[in-house]
Amino acid sequence: MPTIRSIKTPCTALIVLGWACLLPVRAADVTGTMTLEEKVRLVVGTGMDFPGAPGAAAPATAVEMPVPGAAGGTAAIARLGMTSMVLADGPAGLRIAPTRGNDTDNTYYCTAFPIETLLASTWDTELVYRVGQAVGNEVLEYGVDVLLAPALNLHRNPLCGRNFEYYSEDPLVAGRMTAAMVRGVQSQGVGTSIKHFAANNQETNRMSVNTIVSERALRELYLEGFRIAVEEGQPWTVMSSYNKINGVYTSESPDLLTKILREDWGFKGFVMSDWFGGSDPVAQMKAGNDLLTPGTPDQSAKILAAVREGRLDEKVLDRNVARILQILAQSPRYKGYRYSNKPDLKAHATVARQAAAEGMVLLKNARGTLPLAGKIKTVAAFGNTSYDIVTGGSGSGKVNEAYRVTLVEGLRSSGLSLNASLQDLYAGYIKEAKARQPSPRQGDLMAMMMGFPLVEEMQVDADLAARMAQEADVALVTLGRNSGEGKDRQAEAGDFALSQREVSMLQAVSKAFQAKGKKTVVVLNIGGVIETASWRDLADAIVLAWQGGQETGNAIVDVLSGKVNPSGRLASTFPMSYTDVPSAKSFPGIALETPGSERPATDGWNVRVPAEVVYGEDIYVGYRYYRTFKVPVAYEFGYGLSYTQFEYGNPAVGPTHFTDKVTVGIDVKNTGKVAGREVVQVYLSAPARKLDKPKEELVAFGKTGLLQPGETRRLSFEIKAEDLASFDEASSSWVAEAGAYQVEIGDSVKDIRQTATFDLDKELTVKKVNKALTPTRQINRLHP
Ligand code: BGC
Repeated sequence: MPTIRSIKTPCTALIVLGWACLLPVRAADVTGTMTLEEKVRLVVGTGMDFPGAPGAAAPATAVEMPVPGAAGGTAAIARLGMTSMVLADGPAGLRIAPTRGNDTDNTYYCTAFPIETLLASTWDTELVYRVGQAVGNEVLEYGVDVLLAPALNLHRNPLCGRNFEYYSEDPLVAGRMTAAMVRGVQSQGVGTSIKHFAANNQETNRMSVNTIVSERALRELYLEGFRIAVEEGQPWTVMSSYNKINGVYTSESPDLLTKILREDWGFKGFVMSDWFGGSDPVAQMKAGNDLLTPGTPDQSAKILAAVREGRLDEKVLDRNVARILQILAQSPRYKGYRYSNKPDLKAHATVARQAAAEGMVLLKNARGTLPLAGKIKTVAAFGNTSYDIVTGGSGSGKVNEAYRVTLVEGLRSSGLSLNASLQDLYAGYIKEAKARQPSPRQGDLMAMMMGFPLVEEMQVDADLAARMAQEADVALVTLGRNSGEGKDRQAEAGDFALSQREVSMLQAVSKAFQAKGKKTVVVLNIGGVIETASWRDLADAIVLAWQGGQETGNAIVDVLSGKVNPSGRLASTFPMSYTDVPSAKSFPGIALETPGSERPATDGWNVRVPAEVVYGEDIYVGYRYYRTFKVPVAYEFGYGLSYTQFEYGNPAVGPTHFTDKVTVGIDVKNTGKVAGREVVQVYLSAPARKLDKPKEELVAFGKTGLLQPGETRRLSFEIKAEDLASFDEASSSWVAEAGAYQVEIGDSVKDIRQTATFDLDKELTVKKVNKALTPTRQINRLHP
């Protein structure tokens, strides 16, 4: 009897499966030998034994994971030689259980890499590829087959609690970063699952919210990053999201999972649901959501009944099974890979530290405050997170790392001394504040989801600040934030805005140090955008450190000391205030009245409350909005300072009449005194005759290597027809309008150094795609 085992010699086998020999799957060969029950076992995951999880399989039915702490897996079917496929999070590194019951001799820690928002700020796809290689190696060596990452939902609104897991407000940056990460991870012979597909831009009512959004905003923004990632990265799998789009759960949407993903983009892998996502397993099967994760007995029963009762064609199951098997055939467990459980954590920590430092953004540096010069010996470190650093967000994106380097540890190992009395004060305060917190129950999902960040409560008054200004050479004030799965952030003080206690600390420190002619440096240890405009004058320098993973403290000190010249640039805008955010009025939508019941409260993270959110800002997200509507921002998209300066020269943009592409060349010269790297951004301003357009859009970017003082490097880019085009809903096609296009080359969306124009003589239909995901009602624009 043919079994999947025979695919182990793929090109000679009777059954041709797997991409190893690039032949199409002959599903019937394998599925023909499987019973209906076996097929159902394959398309419904093995469950999840996690207290507190919504609808989690009872422990008795959840199969024990081959790798403890993994989020899920597919069933092993011994009769057919099918091994299980182990699936584990996540976007900042692998998440598995670090210790295992009786196995007291071994530990299974993983490297906590920087959060994706920091990685995007590197604008360095080659570096992100290397991070991917390191993560992928841990996936492989810990016996996992598919990493549930990277995640690439857009930063539609700064309050989304999971923004730290996502890259950017711009789909080109998000798509390129994702593709690089996917290629890096998959270079190790394991898979990825790019998520959450699609328009999953908030946590409030996450399991049920109906995202109402135009086809154009979907195509140009919310789907575009996924398109790039699928085409350039070829991920093994895609994870559909929890939300609905225009009335249909994404996991039940044939438009999304078949018409767009497979027909328009040519995706060849399989789709899995987000954990417990969607509501109708039969509709999910039909739509092309091939695997239901983590999988419940109820889902299996429903699928089985539907086939038996003729409501679900078994051929649909065969198709889904074949897609899963095709990936199984390339998975390391199936191939019999003997994993070591001993990845090179030391080498990976080096990659993590380098990536962290490269993605930190210098927001302000008045009068050369940084790098800290030789005369600085003693540092007064204020703020809880100087001592209790946040390495990453909470929820499924959290990594169980073996250690984390705090800022003060980083300072100490770089040879700087800390003011001891201030350190003692914080140590006492933090110990006491932590003791007051409820301790998370072991394995409690809710606790893992929420995380327990410390609120800044210690009072730093004028006396303490004055004493420190006397004793120390410089003040470091660290402001920390954390967020995570299941909960969005708040616009209020203490979250998006600084708390009163934080402001008074900054005021006291800044005043006292200034009085002594000394500087105040603010370090932002945050996972998402916060308000900076109201307090930035109090700081001499501001380093946006993000959450840099386990090496955060060392990486911050690398930047503060000048060992690394900061080259991070913002991949999302910092607005002046929350009310300036284009989606401020609609985020996070509303819970809907249900007939005969009280208006339901907004859910926690797993209750399904009928709710909707209307993307009334349409295509005007992030810089596309601020620039077009001339709304001033605190720090614009693409912004970031360096310890050196760069000059842009010899631009060459041509030809002047577009036929199939325009090439852009530019010299970047380091005109300053220290070595550094520059990020060059290419924007395009398109004619807006038929369709309205953002003032400009990013079409290419690149980063120089380390340029020594006086050194010049030439960067080149290509602008293709698709970069000129906008999505025309009327014809379901990408259309480039005739007229003059302006190319803008700069080091931020505002700081444009060179411009050039070219013409497109005749309107061009670049690509026609399927009509899909049409809203069922009129969407009122928030910004006409
Ligand atoms: C998250 C996913 C994650 C999955 C498995 C879900 O709650 O939304 O991102 O991969 O859990 O842990």
